[in-house]
Amino acid sequence: MNVHESEKLYASFAARGTVPAECAEEANVIVLNTCCVREGAETRVIGNLGYVKKLKERNKSLIVAVCGCMTQQADVAEKLHKRCPFVNVITGTYKLSRLPEMTEKAEKEGIFILDLEKDESVPRGANEAMRRTPASAFVNIMYGCNNFCTYCIVPYVKGRERSRNAADIECEVRRLIDEGRREIVLLGQNVNSYNDGDTDFRGLLDRLSSLPGDYWIKFMTSHPKDLSDDVIKIIAERPALAKYIHLPLQSGSDRILALMNRKYDITSYMRKIDLIRELMPEAGLTSDIIIGFPTETEEDYEATENAVRRVGYNNLFTFIYSKRTGTPAAVMDGQVPEPVKKERIARLIDIQAGIANAAAKKCVGKTYRVLCDDSDGGRHTGKTSDDRVIVFDGEARTGEFTDVIVTHAKNSKLYGKVK
Ligand code: 5AD
Ligand code: SF4
Repeated sequence: MNVHESEKLYASFAARGTVPAECAEEANVIVLNTCCVREGAETRVIGNLGYVKKLKERNKSLIVAVCGCMTQQADVAEKLHKRCPFVNVITGTYKLSRLPEMTEKAEKEGIFILDLEKDESVPRGANEAMRRTPASAFVNIMYGCNNFCTYCIVPYVKGRERSRNAADIECEVRRLIDEGRREIVLLGQNVNSYNDGDTDFRGLLDRLSSLPGDYWIKFMTSHPKDLSDDVIKIIAERPALAKYIHLPLQSGSDRILALMNRKYDITSYMRKIDLIRELMPEAGLTSDIIIGFPTETEEDYEATENAVRRVGYNNLFTFIYSKRTGTPAAVMDGQVPEPVKKERIARLIDIQAGIANAAAKKCVGKTYRVLCDDSDGGRHTGKTSDDRVIVFDGEARTGEFTDVIVTHAKNSKLYGKVK
């Protein structure tokens, strides 16, 4: 999601005549668009600012701005200002499109600007973005989140859930398809609760998958409590809807899911998985898992292992629980020691590798429709409808669909050739 925020940032700078620099050393303005979902992301920003400080010592007229989730937190923004007084502009998540004006003002008037004001209005019309990938395009359908999972900082820094107008989304998607994009990825913290007052998520998928052209639509992220049977059914029915669902489980233990405030249990999650498998046996499924949520026991962890084995995800994004100040979980008793978390996550990664390797072997000999998204000297990379990556040889053009036969698998990686 932050990648797309940065694409929109590029567009708002470009609209005022600013062009991207070849490298940080040549830039007049440097913007750090931050994330704070886990501590690691915040640590990286501090590291990058150390380098930017050196650049500013060499080039006094350099303007530095920090924006995004991390600095939307007022205390973090204040600390950052004290620690890095060379930063000229600090803003959060709400006013990204105004950042070019802010950096110009900071430069002209030689002042420091801090703007963390909340603005939950949803702009009308198509979003302008400087998309870097020719084959694929991200499209926001909603912003914010109402779920307040107890580990998560997002609702505090991105505000309440609000949906873009369906006609605006349709217009943007139509334009992207007309420009030749073959993959549209709809974005939202919880796309299943999309509702603009007239159109719900199923309705939006209906409208978008009825547009003319050769393309597929993917979306993320789905919340298991809100993924409806109707949405699963329309994905199965429509060729333009990719057979891929990212459905974060977070934990396989009902006790931990309740503490996380996820509002589903493992039985209802598996019921949805079973329906997906029944209607789309070849669908690709991926998930996010948090290891070491407060009070997680070995038994809870094993329940997660079992769930992961039962589903057989294409891919798993595993995270060590990271304390986020201001969230309920940060002050829960029973924080799990770091070495225990590390040992558990290593085990889960190992199990998932085994599952992914076995699944990859089963793909050998099969032919997939692949969207080629990168080419380098006759060797291409592309993605399937179920979101597997295939490296392949033969005649193919970036941004086009090609039939590829999988010739071999190395661990979980697939290799093939144009059919
Ligand atoms: N610690 C670890 N992982 C987290 N995520 C969100 N908050 C935290 C946290 N405090 C993970 C969740 C979410 C993904 C985007 O990041 O798994 O689905
Ligand atoms: Fe965070 Fe939960 Fe909202 Fe996802 S659904 S952004 S994990 S609060």
